[in-house]
Amino acid sequence: MVLGCANVANVSATKRIAVIAGDGVGKEVIPQAIKVIEAAGAAVELTSFDWGADRYLSDRVTVPPDGFATLGRDFEAILVGAFGDPRVPSNIHAKEILLGMRSKMDLYANVRPVRLMDASLCPLKGIEPKDIDFVVIRENTEGVYGDLGGVFKQGTPDEVAIQEDVNTRKGVERIIRYAFEYCANNKKIDGSPQLRVLMCDKSNAMTHAGGLWQRVFKEVAAEYPNSKIETQHMYVDALAMQMVRDPRAFDVIVTNNMFGDIISDLAAGLQGGLGMAASGNLHPGKTSMFEPVHGSAPPVAGKNIANPFGAILSAAMMLAHLGMAGEAQKIEAAVLDAVRQRKTTADIGGALGTREAGDWVAQKVSSR
Ligand SMILES: NC(=O)c1ccc[n+]([C@@H]2O[C@H](COP(=O)([O-])OP(=O)(O)OC[C@H]3O[C@@H](n4cnc5c(N)ncnc54)[C@H](O)[C@@H]3O)[C@@H](O)[C@H]2O)c1
Repeated sequence: MVLGCANVANVSATKRIAVIAGDGVGKEVIPQAIKVIEAAGAAVELTSFDWGADRYLSDRVTVPPDGFATLGRDFEAILVGAFGDPRVPSNIHAKEILLGMRSKMDLYANVRPVRLMDASLCPLKGIEPKDIDFVVIRENTEGVYGDLGGVFKQGTPDEVAIQEDVNTRKGVERIIRYAFEYCANNKKIDGSPQLRVLMCDKSNAMTHAGGLWQRVFKEVAAEYPNSKIETQHMYVDALAMQMVRDPRAFDVIVTNNMFGDIISDLAAGLQGGLGMAASGNLHPGKTSMFEPVHGSAPPVAGKNIANPFGAILSAAMMLAHLGMAGEAQKIEAAVLDAVRQRKTTADIGGALGTREAGDWVAQKVSSR
């Protein structure tokens, strides 16, 4: 079912999922994720929304009136592909849909697990899967992505462009607390505990915002005196280098919107590229959204070559979030098998197309 703005009755314990494939490769990878969710026998009811560039170009609607309210009211989770289309040079639709969803639905925690499935996927030498298993927790509603600022004397030699960096006490505190709670309540893949929360900023140069992050980090850490959680701090430039030199050094990294955006792409490079990276946009107790980390990849789109695993792993993350841990584990195990047996797209060494890689994983899931 494809709806501009759905109205779904609250009927059963079946989880209601809104699906927004979006643009470009999003339209190819999300059908693979759906196939795999169905193969896992997950108790879900999926409702597709046509938000994206095609819809915007046909009727100039980015988000229908009441769109976010509908998502929050009628669905337990949202599965998203990607947004961005060269036919809409301003990318206004992407901004209003994706950034709108994150800020208007207050999905303040962007959780990006970084796990290496197979040594062959990592560009670093001598690194094993056990060496890369950490998570980037990115503040998702503030910082420099809040679109505050302006341009003065545009188009003249005296032009001034100002982009404000907004850091609220509430926003900084809740994301740092989320990171400590995540550390305390989640284990690593091998079952060992998460031991460290690292806060990353640039407080040596950005003293006002950085000062707030520093103070709040210390205050929230003091709320966990009896836990064994070790606290660490790094400037973002040093962290970028250290992630490449020794990715074993991390468990939970918490940072602001822009630094999180950048370092999680670097982290995706460590796990096999953007096609392998999954994420969740969360607000505990509210409808949350799950999406691959990658964008719409226009040069790759429409060729059946995009890697669907980031989308499939995002779907698994969503099912785990909704209490379907068994289904999520089946999906993750099937993707792991696909990686090990090279039943993948070419970006990670296989010879399958997007659909065929999705079919292989779905078949593996249904046979488990
Ligand atoms: N969450 C989102 O919706 C999101 C995120 C990032 C970028 N974007 C948008 O996407 C468009 C393209 O941006 P970009 O090129 O900077 O980032 P991108 O993630 O689309 O692509 C970056 C690189 O990764 C490759 N890639 C991406 N997804 C892949 C996949 N599934 N399989 C194999 N290779 C993959 C691309 O071919 C490209 O080389 C822009 O309009 C941008 O604004 C959207």
